Amino acid sequence: MTRIIVITSGKGGVGKTTITANLGIALAKMGYQVALVDADFELRNLDLLLGLEKRIIYTLFDVLAGECRLEQALVKDKRQPGLTLLPAAKKRTKELVTPEQIKPLLNDLSQKYEYVLIDSPAGIDGGFQTAIAAATEALVIATPEISSVRDANRVITLLQAQKIKPIQLIVNRVRPGMVRDLNMMSPEDVQELLGISLVGSICEDDRVIVSTNNGQPLVLGKNKSPAAIAIAQIAKNLGGKKNNKSLEFDLSNDRILDRGSTIDPTTEFLSLYPYF
Ligand SMILES: Nc1ncnc2c1ncn2[C@@H]1O[C@H](COP(=O)(O)OP(=O)(O)OP(=O)(O)O)[C@@H](O)[C@H]1O
Ligand SMILES: [Mg+2]
Repeated sequence: MTRIIVITSGKGGVGKTTITANLGIALAKMGYQVALVDADFELRNLDLLLGLEKRIIYTLFDVLAGECRLEQALVKDKRQPGLTLLPAAKKRTKELVTPEQIKPLLNDLSQKYEYVLIDSPAGIDGGFQTAIAAATEALVIATPEISSVRDANRVITLLQAQKIKPIQLIVNRVRPGMVRDLNMMSPEDVQELLGISLVGSICEDDRVIVSTNNGQPLVLGKNKSPAAIAIAQIAKNLGGKKNNKSLEFDLSNDRILDRGSTIDPTTEFLSLYPYF
């Protein structure tokens, strides 16, 4: 059955779009058919991060306006078979997309794709409600800062009210050195505060910024970076085992943050990123 997953957060700028793009690629590398939906209608960035901005002809708005068919708006990623983007408008728009409009569209998408990942906008207003409308599950992104955790908590309450289940956590921008020195919450600390299951965590990694600027997603690069390895691991944890041979990353250390592990997850986290 298709999984329609909204990638959301309370606080803005915590890595939703970065994670949507890279997780989508990682899942496609595993052999899944993946559609990424840019539901950040005002600030849309997903096309840029994927390096697909020049290939957009139609957008989600054109589909809703009846100006093209859904298939015509989908941008296939030539570098990664199995990956498709449904872009938001080319220009900043105040045009509202309602939950009632987006639901049938995403249900159509789910007929052809195994994973539909929805990149949601910051905040919990109308745009958030539209982004979560068709989702059957959610990934909440939080950074290890108290404001981000508090905002994530609020979002989890809203997702629960919509009966979205499971709601899982990704902790992003973790700095293991600071965690070790007790100056930053560990992924486990964040998880305990929020009370939802942790699907993985990603360290602060300069190469995320470089890849964003180049429109060359991290997990497509040949060089393994800590964040790319973590995202590949998250894709695997999320449930995919389809064909992980095509994952280029060394996942030998894949017990990191494994919930069944007897080793303290923070120790495992630090062991993956020893140079911090
Ligand atoms: N693990 C990381 N290490 C370093 N930089 C990161 C990491 N994750 C995200 N970033 C950077 O943080 C910034 C915000 O990321 P991103 O745009 O993905 O967040 P967002 O949650 O989608 O933001 P918004 O709420 O505005 O949509 C970007 O500059 C991105 O490169
Ligand atoms: Mg974003």
